[in-house]
Amino acid sequence: MPLSRNAVPLRERLIFAMDVPDTSSAQALADRLGDSVCFYKLGLELFMDGGYFQLVDRLTSQGKKVFVDLKFFDVPETVGRAVRRLGGRGVTFCTVHGNDAMLAAACSNRGDVKILAVTALTSLDRGDLDDLGFACDPRELVLSRARRAFEIGCDGVISSGLEASALRQHVDSRLLVVTPGIRPVENRPVDDQKRTVDVRQAFLNGADHIVVGRPIRNAADPCAAAESIQRTIADVFAG
Ligand code: C5P
Repeated sequence: MPLSRNAVPLRERLIFAMDVPDTSSAQALADRLGDSVCFYKLGLELFMDGGYFQLVDRLTSQGKKVFVDLKFFDVPETVGRAVRRLGGRGVTFCTVHGNDAMLAAACSNRGDVKILAVTALTSLDRGDLDDLGFACDPRELVLSRARRAFEIGCDGVISSGLEASALRQHVDSRLLVVTPGIRPVENRPVDDQKRTVDVRQAFLNGADHIVVGRPIRNAADPCAAAESIQRTIADVFAG
């Protein structure tokens, strides 16, 4: 599978999942990471702390890219209005987890924010999809949702590294593929991520960005862990 040819600056290919409970520890961790991380994903846990948007603004004013991962899911009008409120503050990505009408409402209101569609949560297996009334193969569902997301005008999708190559083969190559669940092989048994790939393989499968949380956050030296991932990325793209 060829590497993604979407124009993404090399050091922005690593997105750090800032999964910490409050904004002051988030800012302290960002200070510690310094130049080793250029792109931050801020999710629901931090959103429950009052300072979410102050943190977004601080990071963007420090020249960092920010991914607002709040997985909007509501009636299309409400999704559209929520996305519109994100515009103009330097946010790069946000996630929408919904059907065609929700994705379309998000795209119509995106302004300067890129819309990433969550096709099917990677925590759902075939049995879970059956329970939800989707009697279909998860891989087929992901591919069909990704094709629709691209046709509707979404900028990208969130996808496991294992599905990235199928997306690259069967969906337009301009669709951005953002891949969480990255683990060095030896970490596989120790946490809740099951469908993992390592940094190199994610990009060889066609990912544009990887999202990495615990392998950086829990490292003895998070800055060194992030720099090591940056070196691997530079190495993969150098061929
Ligand atoms: O710590 P870890 O590297 O597993 O962090 C991965 C991040 O990506 C977390 O913030 C998690 O919420 C997010 N994510 C994921 N799987 C998805 C979608 C998002 O792990 N399907």
